[in-house]
Amino acid sequence: MSIDGYLSAGTATRLLLSNEADFDRVDAERAASDAILVGAVTIRRDDPRLLVRSRERRVARVARGLSPSPVKVTVTREADLDCAAAFFAADDADKLVYCPSDAVPRVRGRLGAVATVVDAGRPLTLRRVSEDLGARGVRRLMVEGGGSVHTQMLTEDLADELQLVVAPFFVGDSSACRFVGDGRYPWNPDRRATLVETRQIGDVVLLRYALSSRFREGA
Ligand SMILES: NC(=O)c1ccc[n+]([C@@H]2O[C@H](COP(=O)([O-])OP(=O)(O)OC[C@H]3O[C@@H](n4cnc5c(N)ncnc54)[C@H](OP(=O)(O)O)[C@@H]3O)[C@@H](O)[C@H]2O)c1
Repeated sequence: MSIDGYLSAGTATRLLLSNEADFDRVDAERAASDAILVGAVTIRRDDPRLLVRSRERRVARVARGLSPSPVKVTVTREADLDCAAAFFAADDADKLVYCPSDAVPRVRGRLGAVATVVDAGRPLTLRRVSEDLGARGVRRLMVEGGGSVHTQMLTEDLADELQLVVAPFFVGDSSACRFVGDGRYPWNPDRRATLVETRQIGDVVLLRYALSSRFREGA
């Protein structure tokens, strides 16, 4: 995020917050994950590929009996997703799209050919999505935004670790997307989160917080 807590610019242009060294660190986190979740707005706005970029890391995953990249996961109500988006490309990652029960026919009609569409009940909660992913063998889920998904993961107390990278500039536009929105967070002045690491990576800083008893150093 920016110094003032934004994930994006207020404009349609994609905002690059990290530097190359941090993108490489994120790539290592992806390679260590079983699945990566992003919200549907992130797919519409940023069109991310969500693949492990490093050839060595892909090879190492395959040697461990895994697919070269983690499973890609998204959530949607509207199903306003383009099956030509990079998320749905014919690559080596499985794709899961979770939607509320009443949206299943619409989402299957639109995306059924390029992804597995999962009925997540009504309403869809990220707790239910996390439980279903667990049942599919996902032990480590990486959540890469945007703000709506972050807010739900954190307010529902589902995250074990928060990795927050602060880029050295301001956005200064309240129409842009914040790191999180309003909500009741488990961490407050009376229950402070545990800061486990600060690391300077070039001109950005990484803050790592342990948010649950499931947090494991270096996991
Ligand atoms: N800097 C970064 O690292 C970073 C990373 C990721 C994203 N971003 C930025 O974050 C912004 C997007 O964030 P955002 O908060 O607007 O959106 P988001 O979290 O990416 O996606 C929100 C969308 O996900 C679906 N969704 C979320 N919760 C749901 C639920 N409980 N049930 C059903 N569907 C659900 C809905 O999709 P439908 O609308 O399809 O129903 C909702 O509109 C973009 O500007 C992007 O550039 C930045």
